Amino acid sequence: MKKVLAYTRVSKPVRDALESEYKVSYFENYEYIEDEDFKKELKEASGIIGLELKVTQELLDLAPNLEIVSNVSVGYDNLDILEMTKRNIMATNTPGILTDTVADAVLGMILASARRIPELDKFVKEGKWKKYLQIDQFGTDVHNKKIGIIGMGGIGKAIAKRCHLGFDMEILYYNRSRKPEIEDIYDATFCDLEYLLKESDFVVLMIPGSKKTEHFMRAEQFKQMKETSIFINASRGRNIDENALYNSLVNKEILAAALDVFETEPVDTNNPLLSLRNVMTLPHIGAATKENELSMSRLAKKNLIAGLNGEIPPNLINYEVINGKNNI
Ligand code: DGY
Repeated sequence: MKKVLAYTRVSKPVRDALESEYKVSYFENYEYIEDEDFKKELKEASGIIGLELKVTQELLDLAPNLEIVSNVSVGYDNLDILEMTKRNIMATNTPGILTDTVADAVLGMILASARRIPELDKFVKEGKWKKYLQIDQFGTDVHNKKIGIIGMGGIGKAIAKRCHLGFDMEILYYNRSRKPEIEDIYDATFCDLEYLLKESDFVVLMIPGSKKTEHFMRAEQFKQMKETSIFINASRGRNIDENALYNSLVNKEILAAALDVFETEPVDTNNPLLSLRNVMTLPHIGAATKENELSMSRLAKKNLIAGLNGEIPPNLINYEVINGKNNI
């Protein structure tokens, strides 16, 4: 019986189903690399399934039998794809499924930060609501405003749909390629990054995380935004320079930010962004609903089983492994 190492967010019914075919060991929390039990299981594992395990050269050296890593996420910036390919190890992800769930979360972030909902909730609970709300506590409208979406993939499109149909917002987008269907359906305008940053009331970053996109948003980009605009990041923390964002908020170059992701996760409690009133912070909840977790885990299981059975997993990332071009 092959061994499978399940890591963090793999839903229970899926773990149970895997147990009928494999010997499964489950590790519930982050950072197991130093743990002796984890190392032991890693040594024997043919497959890994889970969320955000950092699959580095060091980890791969400890896993001589590994055939496949099945991510329960669409992002795969946790995987050293080049190194996995060199070693003939398959990598898979779960695209498509989480699109609407993440778009819902982004809309929540837009609304909550614009209307200052977390801050005012705290205000009420702390017993500070003694007289009418002061004008300097008021938020800003969302409907009829201009939203700039950086990265028009499936999630970008789902955000555009909600903003256009639900909030009569004008949509600007910046993407590697033009998406005429989104222009037709949601009246979106394709533009360059500088124009998007200068014009938008809300800037949503929705690009994948990779070495190439590291610090995509730096001081220069934040400076181009309007003083009244709100920045939202639900992509990957490393896509922004957090110090630059902090400075731009403190210097009032932008109005506020809503962050679901951080350079280091779980976030360092000393991260200065956590001290700012006008930054809404979330613990990477974009895809985190019960329904979505189950669907993503099921797809990840399908990928894992296909790989372990010597078939091509439906969401294989590194096709070079199959094509035998792994001598890179
Ligand atoms: C994803 O699927 O990439 C989400 O961000 C969850 O990590």
